[in-house]
Parts: sequence; C-alpha cells; structure tokens
Amino acid sequence: MSASVDIERARRLVGEARRVVALTGAGISAESGVPTFRDAGGLWRNYRPEELATPQAFARDPRTAWEWYDWRRSVLAGCAPNPGHRALARFFLARGAAGVVTQNVDGLHTRAAVEEAGNGPPEAALPVELHGAVGRDRCNRCEARFPAEPLGDALPRCDSCGGLRRPDVVLFGESLDGDVLARAYSLAERADLCLVVGTSAVVYPAAAVPLATLEAGGSLIEVNLEDTPLTRSATVALRGAAGEVLPALLG
Ligand code: OAD
Repeated sequence: MSASVDIERARRLVGEARRVVALTGAGISAESGVPTFRDAGGLWRNYRPEELATPQAFARDPRTAWEWYDWRRSVLAGCAPNPGHRALARFFLARGAAGVVTQNVDGLHTRAAVEEAGNGPPEAALPVELHGAVGRDRCNRCEARFPAEPLGDALPRCDSCGGLRRPDVVLFGESLDGDVLARAYSLAERADLCLVVGTSAVVYPAAAVPLATLEAGGSLIEVNLEDTPLTRSATVALRGAAGEVLPALLG
C-alpha cells in the first residue's frame, strides 16, 4: 500500500477515535538530537548499561554513575522539542484529554506541552513518564525530589535529610512506580486508538501499554522508521520520521 494511502487511512482512524493514547520512545526525540538506545549509534551500542545505569553502580561507584547522567543532562541541555513532540502536544491540548505515555526521560514532551499551551493550562499534554525524568534528582533515603543541578566536586545530597541523591529515573533491575504504571494502563484501556511512536517495543512493561488498547478492542497506528514486534498488530504502520509523520497525521 502506498504511503499516501496509509496516511489517509491513519488520519481517518484518528478522526473517528473517541479516546486516543500515545506511547512514545526514544525515536520521537531522535530528531531533537537525543541519542536512542538500540539503533546504530544508540547509547546501549557504546555503553554497558549494567555498568552505569543500575542501583549497584550507584552504590559501588556513585561518581562514575553520576558522571554518565551529568553527561546525558549536558546533551539534553542543547536539545529542544521537535515538530513530533509539538504535534502531539497540540493534539492533546485541543482534545482537552490527557493521553501521552512516554518511556523517555528527556522531558521534551513536558517542554512541548508548556510551550504549545502558551498562557493556557498544559495538563492535557503532560506525559505519564514511565521511566522517570532525568531533569530531576531523588533522595535515595527519603525520596524527596529536587530539580537537577550540575555535578560539582561533592556528590549531590538531599536538602532535607542529607542522603545521597540520584537521578529520578528507573534504573536497570528496578521496578516501575506502580501508580505511574496504573495511570498509563488506565489511559490505554480506555482508548480506542493507540499511537505507538519511535519505540522498539521490546522493553516491558512499557511495551505492554499498546496491548491494553488492543485487548479492549481498540486499534494501533505505528510510527517508526522500521518494523517492530508490534507492527503486525497495527492497523496502519507509517514508515518515516516522527517529526514529519506526526504533523501530517495529527495536523
Ligand atoms: P530504542 O532505542 O530501543 O528504539 C528506538 C526506536 O525508534 C527504534 O525502533 C527506531 O527504529 C525508532 N526511530 C529512530 N529514529 C526515529 C524517528 N526519527 N522517527 C520514528 N522512529 C524512529 O528506544 P526505546 O524503545 O524508547 O529504558 O527504548 C525503551 C527503553 O529502553 C528506554 O526507555 C530505556 C532503554 O533501556 C530505561 O532507561 C529504563
């Protein structure tokens, strides 16, 4: 089927849907300059996650683990939301109903929501962040949250209890926050359409979010450069860059 027929079919599905949820992954931020994980050039091709992004790494050698996250923050400081983030934000702001679920920790959906909302409330476009946010710290001891600060000579400590801080992200081997996951599933179960954007769909439980829409009788539209394990369950698979496809799909 030709790309123009696919996009028209997908636009019709969006137009007919009563409730929409979107699950996004690293691919939606690729055009903002944020490295993905598994593609050529992806982070996990060049780094060993078990040496950097685990609770054991923070316990064994917190400075090295922190330096890696400080580097990721410095990369993000030079990145901005792209037309894909913006199209999703405008879509959900116009609907007035929340629907973005993301695996990304880069904060770009939140920035797009705030910027696109202008003086209005951004809530409808704020994401459920399944894997946390790299722009926040969390105390290892008392769980207090703080805005991120650049790494100095001393390791960052909690303002309330003095415990060591860590980035407020889900590390390898850790479980996702139960309330956050429940919010994501609730959005997916009630949706009759799930947009799956820029994810390899291999990391669970995030990859099960679109399955909740399918099991409830809804359909999937996939936006990706290539096939994934979810492609055969998609009613329409749109092949292209999220920053180009999403404005055409949702605009
Ligand atoms: P991956 O790096 O596994 O997959 C990125 C996907 O985006 C691939 O399927 C690419 O084909 C696609 N892609 C790349 N550029 C794109 C573009 N411009 N437009 C559309 N699609 C594009 O990233 P995730 O699926 O997000 O977890 O990875 C899931 C989780 O694995 C991450 O949240 C992270 C990682 O371990 C944690 O850190 C807890």
